[in-house]
Amino acid sequence: MRRSSFGHNQERAAVLCGLGSWLPPRVVDNAEIAARLDTSDEWIRTRTGIRQRRIVEPGVTTSDLAVEAGQRALKSANVESVDFVILATTTPDRPCPATAPEVASRIGVGGAAAFDLNAVCTGFLYGLGTAAGLITGGMAERVLLIGADTFSTILDPNCRTSAAIFGDGAGAVVLRAGEPHELGAIGPFDLGSDGEGADLITVADRNSHFAMQGQKVFLRAITHMAKSAEAVLDKAAMRLRDVDKFVYHQANARILYGVADQLGQPRSKFVRNIDLVGNTAAASIPIALAAANEDRDLRVGHRVLLGAFGGGLTWGSTLLRWPDIDAL
Ligand code: COA
Repeated sequence: MRRSSFGHNQERAAVLCGLGSWLPPRVVDNAEIAARLDTSDEWIRTRTGIRQRRIVEPGVTTSDLAVEAGQRALKSANVESVDFVILATTTPDRPCPATAPEVASRIGVGGAAAFDLNAVCTGFLYGLGTAAGLITGGMAERVLLIGADTFSTILDPNCRTSAAIFGDGAGAVVLRAGEPHELGAIGPFDLGSDGEGADLITVADRNSHFAMQGQKVFLRAITHMAKSAEAVLDKAAMRLRDVDKFVYHQANARILYGVADQLGQPRSKFVRNIDLVGNTAAASIPIALAAANEDRDLRVGHRVLLGAFGGGLTWGSTLLRWPDIDAL
């Protein structure tokens, strides 16, 4: 077998073979937020594209959502064991220990290596890169990657801007070892960070609420995601017009349109479900993938570019050809 200079086996790839998502049942529409804070349905819809979001009931935690999504992804992949469980989250059940081992046990794959990964809204993309590295490097045959967040539990109850944007949810994928030419094979990746922007999205300490500088984040998100898309396409020797669908972290509909415009791509190529779920942080991409698969917005063989941006600052992009998959 040929090996790259990084020791990775070039004839082995991580292949998407299972997909699941879970949203808490309680729907909070814009009118409900406007009834308690100084905002309006009109402001939220026109500035963010969001009409409603799902919010957990008191006492429901990130692990509860992660377990639901993880079980669905395992069932969708028709597998009963994995070598690793990676939980991408900014809202773990507690600071220590990591939430992933408990999630692994609760969904019946206890014994697998399990850890949390925090790259805020880029967590799912970083998780995909990590899982792909574990598989192509020969450390794992199968990885369950879950993105789950309950931002409603860390928001300032008096902040109208964050109340408008964030929702709770979870999404998960199973990746298995396969070959680079298969449908569902993931890669290459472009992942990056800029710690000079660390103060733009923060939770200062255990007693603080989530805070962000919206305008600055907005502009950086568009620039970094557009640059990252170009970088990953360069690595793959592909052009923008080769991409059938862009599935981006759902942060704000105007950010999605900004990226589309900056890349000179039609907005119709950008999968959008933010109107129904808001920004679900690390869960956003797998939830969008599951919804687009269900709506047949994503079709077998589509060339798909995934992209995200978030606190850290962090960003990332990757590519895959959409497999024949039953998302649950
Ligand atoms: N309802 C009504 N008015 C609101 C409001 C709300 N929910 N939130 C903010 N405003 C007001 C502001 O106070 C400001 O008023 P002013 O002009 O009197 O000062 C005005 O609306 C415009 O605020 P601004 O921050 O310029 O709005 P914006 O168009 O940038 O939209 C965000 C604000 C937060 C929606 C937008 O910046 C954004 O989406 N940023 C990215 C956030 C994000 O995705 N973060 C997660 C990381 S991926």
